[in-house]
Amino acid sequence: MFDNTHFPGAKKFWHQGKLYDWSQPTIHAMSHALHYGTSVFEGIRAYSTLNGPAVFRLPEHIDRLFHSASTLSMKVLYSKEEIINAIMSVIKENKLKSAYIRPLMFCGYGNLGLLPKFSPAELTIGAWEWGAYLGEKTEKGAHVYIVPWRRVHHSQLEMTAKLGGVYVQSAICGMEARSLGCDEAVFLNLEGNIAEGPGENIFIVKSGVLKTNDKTESVLEGITRESILEIAKNLNLETSVGPITKEDFFQADEIFFSGTAVEIAPIIRATDGSNPEEEKKEYIIGSGKVGDITLRLAKYYKDIVSGKIKEYENWLTYVYD
Ligand SMILES: Cc1ncc(COP(=O)(O)O)c(C=O)c1O
Repeated sequence: MFDNTHFPGAKKFWHQGKLYDWSQPTIHAMSHALHYGTSVFEGIRAYSTLNGPAVFRLPEHIDRLFHSASTLSMKVLYSKEEIINAIMSVIKENKLKSAYIRPLMFCGYGNLGLLPKFSPAELTIGAWEWGAYLGEKTEKGAHVYIVPWRRVHHSQLEMTAKLGGVYVQSAICGMEARSLGCDEAVFLNLEGNIAEGPGENIFIVKSGVLKTNDKTESVLEGITRESILEIAKNLNLETSVGPITKEDFFQADEIFFSGTAVEIAPIIRATDGSNPEEEKKEYIIGSGKVGDITLRLAKYYKDIVSGKIKEYENWLTYVYD
């Protein structure tokens, strides 16, 4: 019934303790989350290493899943260890060498009043081979569109959680950017500063200093973001955390996205559409080419996730012991 055209390598998925064929439906169309976005999820990657696939920062992702679930008062039926074991079983069962892993916890079937009183949380885990999220732009650099819509503010929803419903804004704005010929959207926050991409954090580089913002700017503080801040220190790069104004962004020497799906992806051009009253304006970032610091970090990050740097072995969970 469901083919796996856009899920290469996906043969089985895990649902509520059992493995199912990818094509097999397991949920009812009247499930609560389908109607109201009452779900939480994770995006995790496993990378190919000399010792087989290794999952990057798995405990941190599972901790965030539980944090997200708590914001929706979801009762999680499984322990962290059980979820980790389930993820391993999905990678093994699909014989994946590298994978994008998607645990999804959602309010299931029971009632359709807005409060999911009789719709207990269900857990599903899928995994497949997913290449670079921004495709060839990961090497060449992306053109972003600063959308007129402001990112959901931290005073409106818990933006440290990965709540399914919030991603409707990500989907709409990601589509809008592409419809205008750009590669990805960028949100401003209600304060008018740069917030994040639809599924990515943002770093800028100015005069050798690496800067990103934090949750007070209405962004999800990504696990990749945190990893990059740590890596940068070890590479003796100066870092700073604070608001990024639009001017900081346009005048940056380098900019890149960070995130599990996108990894480290340079931004080399931006179109500002943030004020619908004004004409859109285009900016070239830095030299208009992928910057040296971005390249250096991206290479180091690749080496870390593929187990080539001993110092960061503790960030990897190997699938086969
Ligand atoms: C809105 C948003 N911001 C940032 C990120 C980056 O987070 P991470 O590095 O943990 O994948 C993601 C992806 O999970 C996201 O969805």
